[in-house]
Amino acid sequence: MRPRSASFVISAARPDDFPPPGLPEVAFAGRSNVGKSSLINALAGVDGLARTSRTPGRTRLINWFKIEPVKGPPLHFVDLPGYGYAQVDRDMRASWRPLIESYLGERPALKAVALLVDIRRGAEDEELDFAPWLIDRGITVIPVITKADKLGKAQRLPVAMKVKRDLGLKKEPVLFSASEGFGIDELWRAILRAVETTA
Ligand code: GTP
Ligand code: MG
Repeated sequence: MRPRSASFVISAARPDDFPPPGLPEVAFAGRSNVGKSSLINALAGVDGLARTSRTPGRTRLINWFKIEPVKGPPLHFVDLPGYGYAQVDRDMRASWRPLIESYLGERPALKAVALLVDIRRGAEDEELDFAPWLIDRGITVIPVITKADKLGKAQRLPVAMKVKRDLGLKKEPVLFSASEGFGIDELWRAILRAVETTA
């Protein structure tokens, strides 16, 4: 499912810098260090497209990427800054939350939000708030469990089922690993389905 092309478009620190709406968009949200940028690179099949780091809070801007899937129209992937990192929260909360909320709340091109949850953490307070916030706004949520390689195979599905229950989701989360490269095709299918059904 590797796309035909993937390229960086623009970064934005404030709503005035958002690119004009045009292409259908899928945003990637989750705790700082959950693996958002790594997941985007794995979906795109391009190492280093989105910057990854061991240091939490690396992505502080909203970053847009243009993706041309093998099938269907071109899309924007939108890498959102991670939440929940104490250091960054102290310094940046004042500017971040409005930035993310203004994106999620006023973006007609937004087709779905992939909500990422670390397999070793499960759903925590932020996700328990965030998932209903998205659902209330009619935004399609695609749940994803990241770093699934960190648990043995038999332990993965129970975590996915618990996250589904905890967040009151209809869909089962995709078990994903950027480092071992599994879950990529399944997540691509979920993304293309969301883009088609909300077109
Ligand atoms: P911020 O931009 O800081 O919010 O982080 P992020 O959510 O974009 O996470 P990023 O992709 O930068 O990854 C954070 C760390 O987790 C890096 O050290 C990655 O190598 C590691 N990581 C990401 N995906 C996986 C995975 O599937 N498996 C494992 N084992 N490690 C991963
Ligand atoms: Mg990142």
